[in-house]
Amino acid sequence: MGAIAEDGQPVYALCELSVYRIRHLHVVVSITTMKTIIEPFKIKSVEPIKFATAEQREQVLRRGGYNLFAIPAEDVLIDLLTDSGTNAMSADQWAGVMRGDESYAGARSFYRFQDKVRELTGLKHIIPTHQGRASERILFSILGGHGKHIPNNAHFDTTRANIEFSGAEADDLPTAEGIDPDVIADFKGNMNTDALRAYIAKVGVANIPLCMITVTNNSQGGQPVSMANIRETSKICREHGIPFFIDACRFAENAYFIKLREPGYADRSVKSIVQEMFSYADGCTMSAKKDAIVNIGGFIAINDDNLALKARNLLVITEGFPTYGGLAGRDLEAIAIGLEEVLDEHYLQYRIRSTAYLGERISAAGVPIMQPPGGHAIYINAKKFLPHIPPEQFPGQALAIEFFRHAGIRSCEIGSVMFSRYDASGKFIPAPMELVRLAIPRRVYTQSHIDYVIEAIIEVYQNRDKIPGYRIVEEPPMLRHFTAKFEPIVK
Ligand code: F0G
Repeated sequence: MGAIAEDGQPVYALCELSVYRIRHLHVVVSITTMKTIIEPFKIKSVEPIKFATAEQREQVLRRGGYNLFAIPAEDVLIDLLTDSGTNAMSADQWAGVMRGDESYAGARSFYRFQDKVRELTGLKHIIPTHQGRASERILFSILGGHGKHIPNNAHFDTTRANIEFSGAEADDLPTAEGIDPDVIADFKGNMNTDALRAYIAKVGVANIPLCMITVTNNSQGGQPVSMANIRETSKICREHGIPFFIDACRFAENAYFIKLREPGYADRSVKSIVQEMFSYADGCTMSAKKDAIVNIGGFIAINDDNLALKARNLLVITEGFPTYGGLAGRDLEAIAIGLEEVLDEHYLQYRIRSTAYLGERISAAGVPIMQPPGGHAIYINAKKFLPHIPPEQFPGQALAIEFFRHAGIRSCEIGSVMFSRYDASGKFIPAPMELVRLAIPRRVYTQSHIDYVIEAIIEVYQNRDKIPGYRIVEEPPMLRHFTAKFEPIVK
C-alpha cells in the first residue's frame, strides 16, 4: 500500500510530525508511538475500478453536459464526489445485515439502533429516517414556514433547500476566520456567537423556531466546531428559549478534532466527548451515510414530546412506521454497529490523518487549499487555483471537470454553481468561496489511491493556465448543481 515515502520515512508518521500545533503531539505519541499510521483494517472483499482513456473520458463529459453528477459512476476511476453513503461496511456490519429483524413494528433491530443513538446523544425520542434530508424535511415542515428564520454556523445545501422550501429563511453565521481559506486555526467551523446574539435581537425570538450547528462544518471546509463553541451556542439559545439542534452527520470526526485540539480533552475518550457535545442539544438531525459508516439511513433525535409526536405523524405518511422510518431492519442493525465502530480511536486517527495527508501533499506543491485540512475532505480554493476564470464562469466547476478529464477523479464543486444567486435586477451574486471538494469515502481507498490523486492534482496545477471557464446552458429552479448542463467557453 505504499506507506513509505521516497526519503524512507514512514509517510503518515512523517505527517504526524508536521501537525501544526506542537501541543497536539503528546496525543499523537501516546496513540501511535510514532509508527506509520496504517489503514486499521484488512480487505476481504474488493470491487474493481475501470480504467478509461482520455478520449473516452472526454466523451463521458460531453454526454453528461459537463456535470459530474450526470456521469455514470462506472466511468470514474477514483470517486471523491462525496463521503456520503460511499462507506465500506465492516464484516461485523454485514453480519448485522443478516441478523436484521424485518418485523414491521417493534423490530429487535430498532431497539438496538435506538439504544445506541440514545447512549450517544442522551436524547429521548429516536426517529429513524431514510437519510439526513428526510429528517430535515420532517423537522422544517413542522418548525419552518413563512416569516421564520433558522440560523446555523453554515447550512448544508439540502438543509437550506428544505428550510427555504418550507417558506422560512436559512441564515449562515460563520466566523471571520471560518470563511478565510488561508487562515490556519483550530476550529474554523465555529458559530459566530456574537453574530448569533445580534441576529436574535434583530430577527426576534418568536421568529426563530430553532438554531442549528453543523459538525463538522461541511459547507465551510469540513472544519470542526469546538466544545466551547457548542456550549456557548447552546447557552445563548437556552437564555432565549430557542431549541438548539446539532446537524450531527460527522459528529465523531468533530469529536476527534476536539480531542486533538481543545485544551482539557486530550485524555478523554471520544465517546465521552461525543456525549458531552450532545448534552448541550435539544435535538439533532443525522445522516447515517456519514459517521454511521453505512450506505443509507438517518434519524431525528429530540427531547420535546410534542415535537416528537408531530414528527412521527409526518414520518408515517412518507417514511414509514416509527420503528423503521424509511429503513429496513438490516439497515438499523448496520447503523447501530457503525455508530460504535466510528468511535474507535485507531479508526479516527487514520481517518483524520489520511485526509490531512492528501491536503498537506498538494499544499506543499503550491496547490491552494482551504487550511487546515478538514475531517472528511480537502477543499481546493479554485479562485486562487484558476485566477483567470471569473466567478460567473464557475472556476470550481472548471477545476472539477479538469480533474476528471485528466485523471478520472470525480470531485464536487462547492462554489457559485451551488450557491450563487441573482438579485432582483438579475445581477449575478457569486458564492463567497469557490471550492472543489475532494471527499474521502470511509475505509474505501488506500494510500496508493490517494498518492495517485496527489500526483494528478499537481499535474493539473502545473497546466492550470489552459483550463477554460464554463457557462450554464440548462438549469432547474432548485439545487441546480445536481442537474444543470454546462459547456466550455472557448475563446
Ligand atoms: N447535513 C450535512 C452537513 C450534510 O453534509 C448532508 C449531506 C446532509 C445534511 C444531508 O444528508 O445526504 O443523508 O440527505 N451531505 C452529502 C455530502 C450529500 O456530499 O456532503 P443526506
